[in-house]
Amino acid sequence: TRPLKVALLGCGVVGSEVARIMTTHAEDLAARIGAPVELAGVAVRRPSKVREGIDPSLITTDATALVKRGDIDVVIEVIGGIEPARALITTAFEHGASVVSANKALLAEDGAALHAAAEAHGRDLYYEAAVAGAIPLVRPLRESLAGDKVNRVLGIVNGTTNFILDKMDTSGAGYSEALDEATALGYAEADPTADVEGFDAAAKAAILAGIAFHTRVRIGDVHREGLTEVTAADIASAKRMGCTVKLLAICERAADGRSVTARVHPAMIPLTHPLASVREAYNAVFIEAEAAGQLMFYGPGAGGAPTASAVLGDLVAVCRNLVAETTGPGESAYTQLPVSSMGEV
Ligand code: NDP
Ligand code: HSE
Repeated sequence: TRPLKVALLGCGVVGSEVARIMTTHAEDLAARIGAPVELAGVAVRRPSKVREGIDPSLITTDATALVKRGDIDVVIEVIGGIEPARALITTAFEHGASVVSANKALLAEDGAALHAAAEAHGRDLYYEAAVAGAIPLVRPLRESLAGDKVNRVLGIVNGTTNFILDKMDTSGAGYSEALDEATALGYAEADPTADVEGFDAAAKAAILAGIAFHTRVRIGDVHREGLTEVTAADIASAKRMGCTVKLLAICERAADGRSVTARVHPAMIPLTHPLASVREAYNAVFIEAEAAGQLMFYGPGAGGAPTASAVLGDLVAVCRNLVAETTGPGESAYTQLPVSSMGEV
């Protein structure tokens, strides 16, 4: 079987781990897919940076030329941000590649158009890594729960803010010190404002609500309050009341099923609640579905290796589809429900 060629766009915190795992697990991946996968090019911004384990001849600063090559089967986009990521993904579809992305900002802004482009070219768009790092949520919602009716998705979906709140609560660390540590550990976005102002959690809430409720929700539909107003005094007073502060994302279907709400804000959580024990950059998400009841998903929500695990899972799925000459489920048929940013708190 001919090798499947993969172009990696971005080789930072996530991309470098994707490349490492692709190399070290090459034999296992080939066995699971039924064909070898080959790293055919790696696009970066700074070509002279030393990148351990990566053949320097694969490095390019011309990501557009890489996706236009015509022999690329799968493009993995881990650059982040809206442009040039959006143009590169669209160009990838036009040139016959399927796409795996971890880019929640882009998917929550323009996911519908990207799905339409994938479908128009008979290709896949997978993005498990865009929501809650290593935790499987996109595929369980899209596939495992497709026969059920999801009414609520609620939880902690941003590792950086959970890390900051946890450090402030348990070790009395200052806000800036905790944010610096989260950045050094590779949890924060390139611009950490996206984390602390709640934009990252709002993007994830939009993606989850869209898939859970079979409708379209964009980041602008999500009510958003970040962490910047939470003080050390707030955290101390929550503690005195037997609570802790967490940044929650809450997505709900209205009781009459005719609308959905999505919001992100800090909340006081009783110490007896399972969300209170979510430490450091871990995430935890409850899904409430009519027949299944309440499900809880928990695990590392940020960081290079955990996120790469989700990217690699998508890579295997997309490659299996290519070998079988089929495509995955894509965007499910949807009904556009009115989305409001606030429900009952
Ligand atoms: P980084 O900032 O660490 O890496 C970004 C990479 O993109 C770098 O290698 C950079 O090159 C490269 N790059 C930037 N601009 C261009 C360009 N114009 N052309 C080619 N390459 C470019 O980000 P992360 O790895 O942390 O995040 C990547 C994506 O994954 C984002 O969408 C993020 O939201 C998402 N994500 C991140 C998680 C995390 O925990 N870090 C978790 C889940 C998702 P250079 O190396 O030369 O600077
Ligand atoms: N900056 C994000 C977070 C990365 O802290 O959760 C994972 O999506």
